[in-house]
Amino acid sequence: MGDQETVLFIDTDPGVDDALAIMMAHVFGRVVGLGIAAGNVGLAHTTANALKLLDVIGSEAPVFRGAPQTLVRPAHGAAHVHGADGFGDTGYLPTSRGSDAEHASLALLRLSHAHPCALTIVVLGPLTNLALALSLDPALPTRVRRLVVMGGAVTGQGNTSATAEFNVGFDPEAAHVVFSRWGEFQLVDWELCMRHALPEGRLESWLAHGGARPAFFAAISRKIRAFSHDQGRAGLVLADALAMAVALQPELVLASRRRSIRVELDGFLTRGATVVDWNGRGGQPPNALIAEAIDQQGFERMVAESLGLANG
Ligand code: BDR
Ligand code: CA
Repeated sequence: MGDQETVLFIDTDPGVDDALAIMMAHVFGRVVGLGIAAGNVGLAHTTANALKLLDVIGSEAPVFRGAPQTLVRPAHGAAHVHGADGFGDTGYLPTSRGSDAEHASLALLRLSHAHPCALTIVVLGPLTNLALALSLDPALPTRVRRLVVMGGAVTGQGNTSATAEFNVGFDPEAAHVVFSRWGEFQLVDWELCMRHALPEGRLESWLAHGGARPAFFAAISRKIRAFSHDQGRAGLVLADALAMAVALQPELVLASRRRSIRVELDGFLTRGATVVDWNGRGGQPPNALIAEAIDQQGFERMVAESLGLANG
């Protein structure tokens, strides 16, 4: 992708790892809009969190609220991981800034016309808003440079049920719409993110640095770091930040495979599972470029810079 500036539309449900991804987007790319999804917590909180975060980092990117609910079946959020407010229940002072009146899906369609074939869409939450946009305008992918999705668990080791990853499992019908109608997209799945966690000690030392961004991230991530530690994980899984790094610096991907991936909608045990046809048994053309290994040092450098630390 060379030195071309990455023009980003981010659809997100902030969320602690979303917050780091959004910081990273502002350091390494140009953010033209944030679509807000319900997911980790409800839409009121995810919208307030996005606005607060933009205040902390001094961004004026517009914030567009999206769908308050999933396409078909109700779903449970991830407050037990991210806190009841999605930002670790720090009781932060809300910003006075409001969100835009335009719906996230409509804003995305408009921006795709304003930046023809230049937008990189990065989805860091359930795919509800993108599925709605795609349903309104099936030609959307022809105007988009690249779609990067954080979602799925490509060998079936989920984080929200035995087999489903959260962003897909929260709104499987929305993921199905996107996966079956988009064309080819870049996938950063949960299992890849587990393999590229950030070692606890390194993150702690970065967060101990002064400055607005490390201090804010240290506060909102306190609960999730404790949760992660209690789970016995050696490092913090920063799924959305990893997806954003791949969106911004595709050369960080060291190995990937093109495969067909579909979403299970009906399974009693497997609703929301992402089924990859690894061996081409079903005859479906590939729709996903599945990242399988990332330059860990490169990713960590990007995280450090996103927090305002020059060399980590
Ligand atoms: C995804 O689920 C959310 O809790 C995170 O923010 C991330 O987008 C990981 O499964
Ligand atoms: Ca998220």
